[in-house]
Amino acid sequence: MITLALSKGRIFDETLPLLQAAGIEVLDDPEKTRKLILATNQPDVRVVLVRATDVPTYVQYGGADLGITGLDTLIEHGNEGLYQPLDLRIAKCRVSVAVREGYDYAAAVRQGARLRVATKYVAIARDFFAAKGVHVDLIKLYGSMELAPLTGLADAIVDLVSTGNTLKANQLVEVERIMDISSRLVVNQAALKLKREPMRQIIDAFGKALEATA
Ligand code: PRP
Repeated sequence: MITLALSKGRIFDETLPLLQAAGIEVLDDPEKTRKLILATNQPDVRVVLVRATDVPTYVQYGGADLGITGLDTLIEHGNEGLYQPLDLRIAKCRVSVAVREGYDYAAAVRQGARLRVATKYVAIARDFFAAKGVHVDLIKLYGSMELAPLTGLADAIVDLVSTGNTLKANQLVEVERIMDISSRLVVNQAALKLKREPMRQIIDAFGKALEATA
């Protein structure tokens, strides 16, 4: 049995065409079922639905053989025990610094002010500001980062930006782009050895589907 860990939503939806290219069709709609293990048209391939941040954990410890997860999540989790063979170029977005409209971020940085930064992406934010030589106090949040500058919790946030609509709706502006994000296929190293043939088939089919759209 090959187990693929996916999260519901954008990653799941954008993975379906890749699965199709590998001849795999998921038999349930995750938005309609309460099931967490979804069968496919291939009796020896199944999909498990996990939280996006849990995908690397499932693959690292062998709860899943393969998984698809954002580069942001991977960086925060670390690469240990994971083989990362493919950039799937799906679920594209970026990690950026944003502040309240009217907040002079450039001046604060120039003056060497100590910035309070709220984020779910603590590792990415820490590395980014350290490389810039900016002193920051990081405040870990688990969601609704946009609220932090509006309530005075923080001067800035580090968050994912896709269309920019969420920032705009909350009177925030993007002031620095930290990195581009896309989803990656991650593979359990032991599973790749033990189930080499079926795993290779899936990885190669994904690779071919990507070449076709390049
Ligand atoms: C992300 C991010 C922003 C939003 C940005 O949240 O945290 O809130 O998307 O997208 P936009 O630029 O297109 O408006 P996501 O929906 O991934 O869920 P989350 O809040 O659980 O991170």
